[in-house]
Amino acid sequence: MTEEPGRITRGFLTPPVRDVHAYLSERMRALGMEVRVDAVGNLRGVWRPQGAGAGRIVMGSHIDTVPDAGAFDGVLGVTMALELVDAAHAMARPAAMEVIAFSEEEGVRFSGPFLGSRAVAGRWDAALLELQDDEGVTLAAAIRAFGLDPARISEAALDADAVAFVEFHIEQGPALEAEGLSVAAVTAIVGQSRLDVKFSGEANHAGTTPMRLRRDAMTSAAEWMLAVEAAARAEEGLVATVGRVHASPGVTNVIPGAAQLSLDLRHAKDATRKAAVDALLGRARAIGERRGVGMEWKELMDAPAVPMDERLTAYICEAMEAEGLPARRMASGAGHDAMVMAGLVPTAMLFLRSPGGVSHNPAETVREEDVEAALRVGQRFVERLAAEIR
Ligand code: HGY
Ligand code: MN
Ligand code: MN
Repeated sequence: MTEEPGRITRGFLTPPVRDVHAYLSERMRALGMEVRVDAVGNLRGVWRPQGAGAGRIVMGSHIDTVPDAGAFDGVLGVTMALELVDAAHAMARPAAMEVIAFSEEEGVRFSGPFLGSRAVAGRWDAALLELQDDEGVTLAAAIRAFGLDPARISEAALDADAVAFVEFHIEQGPALEAEGLSVAAVTAIVGQSRLDVKFSGEANHAGTTPMRLRRDAMTSAAEWMLAVEAAARAEEGLVATVGRVHASPGVTNVIPGAAQLSLDLRHAKDATRKAAVDALLGRARAIGERRGVGMEWKELMDAPAVPMDERLTAYICEAMEAEGLPARRMASGAGHDAMVMAGLVPTAMLFLRSPGGVSHNPAETVREEDVEAALRVGQRFVERLAAEIR
């Protein structure tokens, strides 16, 4: 289910999302769930067992992907949540449950991440509807093209019956594999800054312009990229990535007049993250001044570090111990819908080992025994919470 045969790429509300919705909806209906797609494209199934009270356990993750993605980032959390709904059918006193397949977490198509969970968490900003994709399609137009009504996004917000949100997700890093562990409870999600930075020099002839007279935007960007890497290497726990570089006019025999870059910078402490962003923007300005090249920037995201709910995380740890698993706790270097949902409802996450520590890459995978262990932990967790809610 992909935009690109032979590799997994699923952007926000692109055609393959309909196939994913069809597949998951059938599974949800088979589980006796009411199914709907909300106005921002989240697929939502609600199971209300006989005799259950109003309180509802919400679980889920995202179904969009980065380009040429692995098969598990996001969607594994949705399918595992459905397995837990299935298991709950055997419970004597199950609670109501909702499973959400969020429509956009990666922020690839519209460079604004967490669109799905922002609507569910009641943190929607109407200005987002003006965001444009690479073809100039606005977010509002993409929503309408999918057959949805942007005017109804406010109806996507979660109601007060939701008592918890839990997300199952691959770790996407090397820690659990290095320690030979299947699962870990997530304590917090690190803060994340995303910026666009643009160097503007002077396009000129590659053959006739002496080196001393050039105002080359690309070499300015290159110098800055290495400064980004050096700054991150120098600060414990800081990661910084220039994932995208676009030079224009982008042809062999023209000195690049402009270079547009992305910056993704993360750290568990917000003060450290913000200081690092400020310092790197200062470096970009200084490089530009020395090279006679202009520098401008736009902040796309400033997401603070988000702690997970202590009580729910303790329940997850107790469930791991009951299953004979070490109650490993760890922070998440990756962003997740859980960091948005935590603003509205008590939220927790369970990580599964990433063999090879690889993700955002077709080599991303999981081990069946880890999925099984995570489901056993999840089932205990759901039973514990359901007993509290009823
Ligand atoms: O980039 C992230 O942290 C996540 O995979 N969207
Ligand atoms: Mn991802
Ligand atoms: Mn993800």
